[in-house]
Amino acid sequence: MANFGDFNMAIYVTGLSGEKPAFPPGFDEWEARAAELLDPVVYDYVSGGAGDEHTQRSNVSAFKRWSIYPRMLAGAAERDLSIELFGRRYASPLMMAPIGVVGIMHEGLHGDIEAAKASAATGVPLIGSTLMQDPMEDVHAALGETPGFYQLYTPNDRELAESFVHRAEAAGYAGIVVTLDTWGLGWRPRDLRHAAMPQLKGLCLANYFSDPVFRSRLEKTPEDDPVTATLTWAGVFGNPLLNWDDLAWLRGLTDLPLVLKGICHPDDVRRARDGGVDGIYCSTHGGRQAASGPALDFLPGVVAAAGDLPVIFDSGVRTGVDIVKALALGATAVAVGRPYGWGITMGGAAGAEHVLRCLLAEADLTMGLNGYRTIQELTPEVLMRAT
Ligand code: FNR
Repeated sequence: MANFGDFNMAIYVTGLSGEKPAFPPGFDEWEARAAELLDPVVYDYVSGGAGDEHTQRSNVSAFKRWSIYPRMLAGAAERDLSIELFGRRYASPLMMAPIGVVGIMHEGLHGDIEAAKASAATGVPLIGSTLMQDPMEDVHAALGETPGFYQLYTPNDRELAESFVHRAEAAGYAGIVVTLDTWGLGWRPRDLRHAAMPQLKGLCLANYFSDPVFRSRLEKTPEDDPVTATLTWAGVFGNPLLNWDDLAWLRGLTDLPLVLKGICHPDDVRRARDGGVDGIYCSTHGGRQAASGPALDFLPGVVAAAGDLPVIFDSGVRTGVDIVKALALGATAVAVGRPYGWGITMGGAAGAEHVLRCLLAEADLTMGLNGYRTIQELTPEVLMRAT
C-alpha cells in the first residue's frame, strides 16, 4: 500500500533527471511566493489578523510547546491515516478550511474552482465559503468524487439563509458548516491601513448575487446596479442577534450533517450537542476575528466535552507535524486555511495540490518515523509538554 510519505522520495527520484519541484516544500516559502504575486491589499487581507496579531502568532507557536515521543522498532512501515467522518471514509484527516477570498487569490479570479480541483485531485475535502467568487453550484461541480462541505455565514435574512442551505443540498454538498465567530468583522489593522475590504468592491459575493431570494430584495439586478447590490449585501451579511435559541431553526433546515465552527469553550460544545449538531469545529478563525488565544489550547477541553461527536480543528497548522499533534490532542480532522490559500496563489489547483501533498507527506513520515501506524495510536500520551 502506498504511503503519503512516498511523495518525499518521488521528489528526489524526479530530481535525478534534473527536474526540480515547481513549488517549494514549506509554509514560509509558500507565503513569500504569494507575497510576490498578490496585490498587497489582498496579501495583507489574507496574511493579517485581528489586533496585534498575537492570536494568529500564538495559534502557530502553540504547536511548538508539544513534543512527540519517538518510539523505536515499532514496525510502522505502513501507515493508515484514514478517518471516518459523518458516515464516510476519507483517506486522510486533512481538510481545506473555508477561505472567503480564495476566489481572488488566483490570477484568473476562479480560485474557488481551483481549490475544488485540488480537492478532486487529492481527496482532501473542501469546505467552501459563503463568500465565493463563483457560485457554489459551479464550485461543487469541480469537486469530482471528493465530498465537499458548504460553510454558512448566517445572514440576518432568514429566507436567504434557508435558500443558501437548500442550494447547497441541491448542489450535492455533504454537510453544512455554520461559522459562528463572524457575525461582525474583527479589528484588522492591516486592512484598516489600506481602508479596503474585497467584498465592499463587490468581490466574492457570487453566492448572493446568484441567489433568487437575495435578488428578490433588489429593485435592479446586481448586473445592472452592482453598487446597490453590494451595499445590500453589507446590510444582510451578519446577524449579531443570532443565539442558541436559533440553533433549533438551523438544525431544522437540513438533514445534512451540521457542524458549528468557532466553538472553543466546553460549555458551548455542550449546548451545541444538546441542539443536535453532528460535529464541532474548534477554531479561532486563524486569529482574524476575536483576539482570544491559541486554538490548540482550547482543543483538549472541546474534545472532552464533545464525547462521541467528531471535532474538526483549525488555526495555526503549518506543517504535517502540527497535524499529528492536533490529532493526538483528540481532533478527528484537521483543516488548513492560509497554507492552501498560498498554494492557490502560487499555482492554482496544482499549487494547492502540492501544498496538501507536502502536508500529508510530512504528517505521514512524522507518524512513521516516530513509530505510530494509525490515527488511533495518536493519543495525548504520545505527546510531552515541552518546557
Ligand atoms: C478565513 N476563514 C474563514 N472562515 C470561515 O468560516 N468562512 C470564511 O469565509 C473565511 N474566510 C477566511 C479568509 C481568509 C483570508 C482566511 C485566512 C481565513 C477562517 C478559516 O476558515 C480558518 O479558520 C483559518 O484560516 C485557519 O487558520 P490558518 O490555517 O489560516 O492559520
